[in-house]
This record gives sequence, C-alpha cells and structure tokens, in this order.
Amino acid sequence: MNTRAPAVQARQLVKTYPGDVTALNGLDVTVEPGTVFGLLGPNGAGKSTTVKILTTLARPDSGSATVAGHDVLRHPDRVRRAIGVVAQNSGADPVATGRENLELQGRLYGVRGRRLTARVDELLDRFTLTEAARRQVKGYSGGMRRRLDVALGLVHRPDVLFLDEPTTGLDPEARTAMWEEIARLAGDEGLTILLTTHYLEEADRLADRIAIVDRGRVVVEGTPDALKGELRGDAVHVELRETLDDGARAALEGALGAVPGVHEVLFDGRRVSVRADDGAAAVPALLGVLERAGSGVASVTVARPSLDDVYLRYAGRRYSEAEALGADALVLAGGAR
Ligand SMILES: Nc1ncnc2c1ncn2[C@@H]1O[C@H](COP(=O)(O)OP(=O)(O)OP(=O)(O)O)[C@@H](O)[C@H]1O
Ligand SMILES: [Mg+2]
Repeated sequence: MNTRAPAVQARQLVKTYPGDVTALNGLDVTVEPGTVFGLLGPNGAGKSTTVKILTTLARPDSGSATVAGHDVLRHPDRVRRAIGVVAQNSGADPVATGRENLELQGRLYGVRGRRLTARVDELLDRFTLTEAARRQVKGYSGGMRRRLDVALGLVHRPDVLFLDEPTTGLDPEARTAMWEEIARLAGDEGLTILLTTHYLEEADRLADRIAIVDRGRVVVEGTPDALKGELRGDAVHVELRETLDDGARAALEGALGAVPGVHEVLFDGRRVSVRADDGAAAVPALLGVLERAGSGVASVTVARPSLDDVYLRYAGRRYSEAEALGADALVLAGGAR
C-alpha cells in the first residue's frame, strides 16, 4: 500500500472567468507520487485552468489544492520551488540560445557555477540539443523547441512536473520522440508528472492513470486498461443515412437492445454505437433490425473498445465532436489564443 501523501491533490476546484465562463465546475484530482497522470479532455474542458491553479498562476474561486504537500493558496512559494512547469505555449526566449535559456532558468532557481553548467550539459544531452545549444531558439524546429521547454522545466530538479499539452502541434515523428522522452522521465526516481492532452492515444500510452475532463469536471478516472475494460465486448458503430426523430430512436433502441449478446445502445446524431459480446456475430442481426425499421445504413465498423468509447459513455458525446465544438466556439468568439 502507498502510504505517502499524494503529490497533487485538488478538491472541488471552481473557477469562473468574466463573461460567465465556467472553466472549472468542481474538479477533483489526486496524483500519487512517482506516477504519470493524464488529464484528458477536448478544447475548453478546463485542463490549462487546472494546471494554472496547481502551479499557483491562477486562484480558484473556491476549492483547495496541495502540490508536493504544500497548499497552493497558503504557500505558493513552496509549491513553486517543488514544481517544474511546461506551459501550453513555449516560455523560451527566442533570441537567446538554448544554453542561455537553460542557464537563465537555473539562475532563477538559485543553481549556479559548476553545478549549473553540469546540469545544463546533462539536459542538453538528454534532450538531444547539444548541437543546437549555441543557436538562437527562434531557429529551432517545433520539436526542438518543445524539448527545450521540457528541459527548462527540469533544471532545478523538481519533484512534480506539469506538462500542458507537451505534443500539440508536433509532427508525428517529433511526437513519438517526445513520448519516449516523457516515458523515460517518468521512469526516473521520484518524478511525478501531471500532463494534459487532448490526444486519446497520448493519454493511453503515457499515463498510469487518466482523468477524463469535460466541461470543468472529471467525468471518469482510472487506469487506461480499467477504463477500457469497463466496456465489455466490442463496439459496433453504425452510421445511418439520416438522423432519426425521437420516436423512431426509442423504438430502435429497444429492438437493437433485444439482439442477443447486445448490452448497450447509444445514439449520437446519425451514429449508433452498440456494445456486444461478439461484435462481428451481432452485425447481421443488427442490420436486420435496421432494415425492418426502414433505416438506411451508410457504414458499419466493429472495434475493440477505445478511450473514445469511454468518453462517449461518460460525457454523452463523441470526443471528435466535442473537439469540433470547442474549435467552433473559439471561432465564433473570434478568439485567437
Ligand atoms: N483568461 C481567460 N479569460 C476568459 N475565459 C477563459 C480564460 N482562460 C480560459 N478561459 C475559458 O475557460 C474554459 C476552459 O479553458 P482552458 O484553457 O482551461 O481549457 P483547456 O482544456 O486547456 O482547452 P485547450 O485544449 O483548448 O487548451 C474555456 O471556455 C476558455 O475559453
Ligand atoms: Mg489548454
């Protein structure tokens, strides 16, 4: 049993922004020391707001939080010394070199002299930036910049590292390289990592535990395997040609649910997601029901449960749809971040 205090504990965090935007609506999160915890959620879910509160850059309207055993509101200075932060947008100085950025960061935390030089060399090497160390950061690729950001968060050897969307905007190759770096960091003794992401695959691959955040709250939490395992059997996704009205939907829900081996039917626009013990075996009977009901079918796929299915079940909408909505909201607001 783990008897150590949690590395991060947040209780009932609430945060509203002017204009009546509820960013957090009672968010709870607990991260055990030495683990990687993933906050997974679509655009606007409240991930960055959570990170800002936990890293003392914002205050909650209500609720409480401790990081590395220190209260974020009462002892923000102690929290800051114990953490490294990699914000969603790079904090590196573009006209300084990689080495200069790391040295400045170290000095801010009171690391000096030979200890600083040794630490900077070590980080440059670890993040394959040694060759680029004397070049200005503005000439770095996206992947190099992000690696430097993570190195900056580590100069003073924090206990808890916050990574806000470490791979957003990276090409697939740079993303894979970053995943390897993070996995290696997590293997290091004692380092606790809280990362945010909107990639299901990233959370699945890196995190020991995941909390799915939607509209400012945690809708479900657990290990990736446990979350997926909760969904018994296969997922059968049927795309209908037309959206059904409520009456037709209710009738179909009953008929599809009565097919042997089927234990869950969820409608989402034109999509019907069915959970079945043996997906492939259930398909002919499911199609028969749809045909008798006169519902045209555009496509059918059978898949093992994914985190997308977990999200649909707990948030009541598709992950991709929530992402698109978040993006639309931003466009409508005319906001560039
Ligand atoms: N400074 C601010 N002023 C007003 N509203 C804000 C501010 N910061 C965030 N919000 C709003 O709060 C909500 C949560 O935002 P937050 O940045 O925490 O989401 P996120 O999960 O990090 O999203 P993303 O994946 O896009 O980074 C959104 O509706 C956002 O528009
Ligand atoms: Mg964010």
